[in-house]
Amino acid sequence: MEVPIAAMTFAHPVNVMSLASWQPKSKRSHISPATTAHRNLQTRLAHHHHATPASLPMAICNTVDKVINRFIDLPEQRPTVDPRRVLSGNFAPVDELPPTSCHVIRGSIPSCLAGGVYIRNGPNPQHRLPRRTHHLFDGSKVADVPILSLQKPSVMHDFAITERYAIFPESQLIVNPMDMVMRGSSLVGLDRTMVPRIGVLPRYAKDESDMRWFKVPVFNMLHTTNAWEEADGEEIVLVAPNNLSIEHMLGNMELMRARVDMVRINLCTGDVSCTALSPESLEFGVIHQGYVGRKNRYGYFGVSGPLPKIKGIRKLDFDLVGSGDCTVGRRDFGLGCFAGEPFFVPDNIDGYGNEDSGYVVCYTHEEDTGQSWFVVMDAKSPELDIVAEVQLPSRIPYGFHGLFVKQAELLAQQ
Ligand SMILES: [Fe+2]
Repeated sequence: MEVPIAAMTFAHPVNVMSLASWQPKSKRSHISPATTAHRNLQTRLAHHHHATPASLPMAICNTVDKVINRFIDLPEQRPTVDPRRVLSGNFAPVDELPPTSCHVIRGSIPSCLAGGVYIRNGPNPQHRLPRRTHHLFDGSKVADVPILSLQKPSVMHDFAITERYAIFPESQLIVNPMDMVMRGSSLVGLDRTMVPRIGVLPRYAKDESDMRWFKVPVFNMLHTTNAWEEADGEEIVLVAPNNLSIEHMLGNMELMRARVDMVRINLCTGDVSCTALSPESLEFGVIHQGYVGRKNRYGYFGVSGPLPKIKGIRKLDFDLVGSGDCTVGRRDFGLGCFAGEPFFVPDNIDGYGNEDSGYVVCYTHEEDTGQSWFVVMDAKSPELDIVAEVQLPSRIPYGFHGLFVKQAELLAQQ
């Protein structure tokens, strides 16, 4: 089998694996550079790899950053922003690859993946080690829509949608540009006095005056997994990893712990409840993309390895909420082997009961040998059986978010 792949270097580089040259009789794969055709595909990748024009506040921040970078030698770096530490090991940049053949060393690529492209973004800078600070989450993200009813300028990294509403999280992570400039402190800080809230805004509202905020104590969400409406639209249900120790994102990310919660908000009574779905530390949850904004049953999450690396995958059944542990599928990659966010690719079997018919895919990396693989797992099997494994000719740096674009979707972009 032939599988093209490429390592790209953007501000947040994207590793692209194309399964365009699918040849079932051959056990070869090959890797090729990605093209700009992928730029229109990044709904999931957008919040780590964004190309919109900078707003005025962002332009000011960038200018201040350049001045500081140009004229000031900073004192000793904090570990989380020291580029020599943050961009080391398998977080270090890699060069682009020309088209390269590689082996499918185990199983075979399922037909629903044939002709598609797997894209994964990561923290590497476009250029070699930056002189100044570099946090793993640094990038060129720009908020396009200001939300003025926040208690403070909160870090809003992701949001959810239902059929009629957009759902915004307001966490205890706040932005302090003046503190950074005047006192040299971090741009992002923690305000423990704030009670996290969730904002619910009708999707077609002209402005945010219709936003309703609901307090959800100790719910610090960075990424959403899914949200939907129940009880004829009276209730909003949100599934998301809740960062229980979000302060460590600023100091020692390895200590971050995330618990997948189901939050229920009654729009009539204002009642809010929050129920844990798993005892493990899980992040980077994905679902069948056809269920975004609609009630769904299954989610696939990375197991903190520690974060942002993940050491395995857990499949949760949301219908088991209240049981204490909704885990119905699990795979651990083994000692010293880690991955980034998984992605679920359906196998085109539609209809009730088939939400989990398909495959969970991701890159894995073994730290002792430096070897990386593209792994395809059967999402229906309790042990998330590996049905295909492609040995890659280059180390693939750890990343955050993944996206698989099917052949039909690629063709529709052209
Ligand atoms: Fe993210």
